[in-house]
Amino acid sequence: MPQYLQRGHIPPKRHTIHANVPGHRQEGIFYEEVITTQGFSRAYSIVYHLRPPTRVLRIESGGTTPIAKSEEKLLRHVHLKTASIAPVGDPITGRIPLMFNSDVVLSRCRPALEQADLYRNARADEILFVQRGSGRLVSMFGVSPFRPMDYIVIPKCTTYRIELDSEPTESDMLVMEAFGDVGFPPRYLNPDGQFRLGAPFCERDLHGPIELGTQDLEGEFAVNIKDGENWTRYTMANHPFDAVGWDGMVYPFTFNADDFEPITGTIHQPPPIHQTFQASGFVVCTFAPRMLDTHPQAIKVPYAHSNVESDEVLFYVRGQFGSRRGVEVGSLTLHPHGIPHGPHPGTIIASRNVKFTDELAVMVDTFRPLHLAAAAVPLDDPNYPFSWLD
Ligand SMILES: [Fe+2]
Repeated sequence: MPQYLQRGHIPPKRHTIHANVPGHRQEGIFYEEVITTQGFSRAYSIVYHLRPPTRVLRIESGGTTPIAKSEEKLLRHVHLKTASIAPVGDPITGRIPLMFNSDVVLSRCRPALEQADLYRNARADEILFVQRGSGRLVSMFGVSPFRPMDYIVIPKCTTYRIELDSEPTESDMLVMEAFGDVGFPPRYLNPDGQFRLGAPFCERDLHGPIELGTQDLEGEFAVNIKDGENWTRYTMANHPFDAVGWDGMVYPFTFNADDFEPITGTIHQPPPIHQTFQASGFVVCTFAPRMLDTHPQAIKVPYAHSNVESDEVLFYVRGQFGSRRGVEVGSLTLHPHGIPHGPHPGTIIASRNVKFTDELAVMVDTFRPLHLAAAAVPLDDPNYPFSWLD
């Protein structure tokens, strides 16, 4: 979880009157909402609203969006060329699930439209990786500007809207839905909860909402709530972004991949040095631009590798990818459990005199096998499993 933050105004003691005269129904207070995780045992935030956050006018079905599974049963390497997916939907409805298991759904999103309705994920924390585009994620916690190479981490049950700076088709995201909690690798934190000196990023690199943007509006406000594959459309009697203050450790935040401080060595360092987030059933790593190994005999691309209990997904974001041939910006590869993968032929020699790599990639390593979605099949490069032949 990110560090404790406070925005707007809050009373000096929790669960006491925060005076607002005359206030809603002349009750004279701002209304407290306590957002808790893992029961009441882990991080929480306390939010103060102009009106109670429970004023529901209507509840309607929003339909279901089950993810169709690819029928292929082969255990093999997969290369999806996702850069040319046709823009569709908005930043929520335009998400196309490509790989999934019970811990995580990985989708690509190239929106065609601005976000129509407010949205809330009732079941999953979300990590949006912004490959292209900029804008603001607006929630009751305030306004969070984002830019290319940002991870936007959104706790489950955060109602939000994505506002884009330019044409929606200029935006491109990788979306990770995490059914457990998203946090940081515990080894990065000291016993006092502070990022250790030597961790590849720290509190200064995590950016919470910058301003509240309180909405004092009565009317009808639709919120589409995603609960797994089921959607429910709530119509609220006041705008949900009516907070005047909050504090705590549950809120959306951004972290820019270019702020990841790479750890390097004289010889190849293993992927955990790139780790950025830790979630139930998977990790997220940032392969940031970095100096390559300095030992005179170093082999500067990764060794062939059997990750016997993980499925490894790489999203190729920017730069030249030293260990791969044939991948491009926007490629998504899956190197599954059970079979080895490694550098492509020629890349070991080609990297011998290279001192620096400008590659930027996001890796998702899952501990349970991933399923390929049917929507991934048209993007599949069928020759990829054989691309290690000379
Ligand atoms: Fe690997």
